[in-house]
Amino acid sequence: MFLLHPLICLLSFRISAEAAYASSNPSECKCQPSQPCWPSFNTWSRLNNTINGALFKVVPPDTSRYLRPLYKKQACEKLKSETGYRNWMHRAKQSPLNFEQTKGCRSNSLPPNGDETDETCTFPLHSPIYAINATNPTQVQAGIKFARKYNIRLVVGNTGHDYFSRSSGAYSLGIWTHYMRDVEFIESFRPKTCSKTKTHSAVTIGAGLIWGDLVRLADSRGKLVVSGADPSVGCIGGFMQGGGHSPITGKYGLAVDQLLEIHIVTPSGQYITANECENPEYFWALRGGGGGTFGIVTSATIKTYPTQPIAMVRQRFDLTSSNTDIWWDWVAYLQYDIPRISEAGIMGYSFILPDETRKAGWASILTMVNGTIEEIANIMQPVSTKLANSKYKEHITYHQENYSFPNYLTYFKTNYFPETPEDNKIMPSRLLDARALTEDPEFFAATLKNMWSPFVSAYLSHILGGNGLAQYKNVDMALNPAWRRTYNHLSKLHDR
Ligand SMILES: Cc1cc2nc3c(=O)[nH]c(=O)nc-3n(C[C@H](O)[C@H](O)[C@H](O)COP(=O)(O)OP(=O)(O)OC[C@H]3O[C@@H](n4cnc5c(N)ncnc54)[C@H](O)[C@@H]3O)c2cc1C
Ligand SMILES: *[C@@H]1O[C@H](CO)[C@@H](O)[C@H](O)[C@H]1NC(C)=O
Ligand SMILES: *[C@@H]1O[C@H](CO)[C@@H](O)[C@H](O)[C@H]1NC(C)=O
Ligand SMILES: *[C@@H]1O[C@H](CO)[C@@H](O)[C@H](O)[C@H]1NC(C)=O
Ligand SMILES: *[C@@H]1O[C@H](CO)[C@@H](O)[C@H](O)[C@H]1NC(C)=O
Repeated sequence: MFLLHPLICLLSFRISAEAAYASSNPSECKCQPSQPCWPSFNTWSRLNNTINGALFKVVPPDTSRYLRPLYKKQACEKLKSETGYRNWMHRAKQSPLNFEQTKGCRSNSLPPNGDETDETCTFPLHSPIYAINATNPTQVQAGIKFARKYNIRLVVGNTGHDYFSRSSGAYSLGIWTHYMRDVEFIESFRPKTCSKTKTHSAVTIGAGLIWGDLVRLADSRGKLVVSGADPSVGCIGGFMQGGGHSPITGKYGLAVDQLLEIHIVTPSGQYITANECENPEYFWALRGGGGGTFGIVTSATIKTYPTQPIAMVRQRFDLTSSNTDIWWDWVAYLQYDIPRISEAGIMGYSFILPDETRKAGWASILTMVNGTIEEIANIMQPVSTKLANSKYKEHITYHQENYSFPNYLTYFKTNYFPETPEDNKIMPSRLLDARALTEDPEFFAATLKNMWSPFVSAYLSHILGGNGLAQYKNVDMALNPAWRRTYNHLSKLHDR
């Protein structure tokens, strides 16, 4: 179980990388490059020969620019831009070199000599030493067996989106899945070993697929997939294994609810299939147990649905007076209303954003799958009525724009773009059920107000509850069961 994320010995050395390489070697530690246990170049080459030459050395661009004492902030920034560090799409395609997400978070990937005072330019030190650019399960098996045999730290990654850099790791062998790109659409899929289960229209995808690609491919078949909201996120790595929420979770559930069958290489190096009937304990664990935990996923079959029109309303409320108490009351009312609108079929995202005077505005995109603007307007009528006939109207303005998309792809392309990787965000969050949202709006308003600070760049409500989540509530899987009654996954986007 602990094969993929073994902690190498995290000793706090304030000395050079070389000195740390040569440091103590308790037997329980993973092998490090300067130690006698480290495989010779010939041994690595033999591994390379068994995997069609897919092994490569992960070479940092120019070590002199980041190793102290030559470290310079500007040089570091330049290094980051040169290596595509600031662009998710580019970053994922290059190599696991850039899979260092959160600076200074004492993350999984820090080397033992990690200079913890330097929060800006340690990322190349956290990369694997060698990586396998895997395109088939046999290469993954070879990598796992090699790492076991030589006691080498093993990491697996696709896009590097992990917030704790768990797809990277100092002194490791990386299994890089980004080029496992097979895609096969199947109109009525049923696992071979599960003769009694219902068939479903489906797609089998390699571990390297990202949502931007799959949404487009599905559309060309008249299908939609329950994708993430950012085209650069991987489909079946950390996203799916951690739960995976989508703009259309309110109708179709989470990514784990789409899984019909999965293929993995286990920590012992076996390549297995898991579904409801075959290896059900793996099937249970991989639906919510987290990426990089139970094995390396090489491919999976997930549900597809007929593509449908999406109706969308962009709404914006702005505080125009200085009465922030009125504002937070209004926000608490909108939060209170989330279970009602969700049950009626609305889903989307709402941001509470500061304006330039650090007052706040509320901006949402609210959608209905296979719905109309009129349906959304009817469901939202009580909100408009309340605003128009209350004390709030003196302080808050409302603005709305209407959009109708013919299919999921157009909706997706219009609203979602690869975000820019950032070093310094922290994102605490809570899963809020109907009781949390409706029981005590005053307390809710006070809590949001009290947590608001100059470091908060937004509160983000993922409005994703209702039938989509609840319909799978009796399916037993590793997912946190609180998801099934969640209406708002509320996160606070916070600068360090
Ligand atoms: C810009 C951005 C937008 C996001 N949007 C959403 C969103 O809309 N909805 C949502 O639910 N989440 C979202 N997330 C969170 C995202 O789902 C997680 O960060 C997820 O872990 C990313 O998975 P990945 O495979 O793409 O990344 P990676 O960093 O490559 O991997 C993440 C984790 O999964 C493991 N892993 C990767 N591939 C495999 C594999 N084949 N087998 C086993 N383990 C594997 C890695 O070891 C690591 O622990 C977003 C994150 C970012 C950075
Ligand atoms: C692995 O083999 C390929 C093809 O022969 C070669 O290009 C590559 O450099 C080798 N990798 C290593 C780490 O030697
Ligand atoms: C990885 O493999 C893919 C496909 O085989 C290839 O296009 C890509 O250039 C390779 N990348 C590296 C860094 O080896
Ligand atoms: C979308 O709605 C139309 C009309 O209400 C209905 O006929 C159709 O079956 C719906 N499509 C899907 C995929 O649910
Ligand atoms: C959006 O649609 C609603 C409901 O049909 C309508 O009342 C409103 O005028 C529309 N707004 C715009 C800007 O078109």
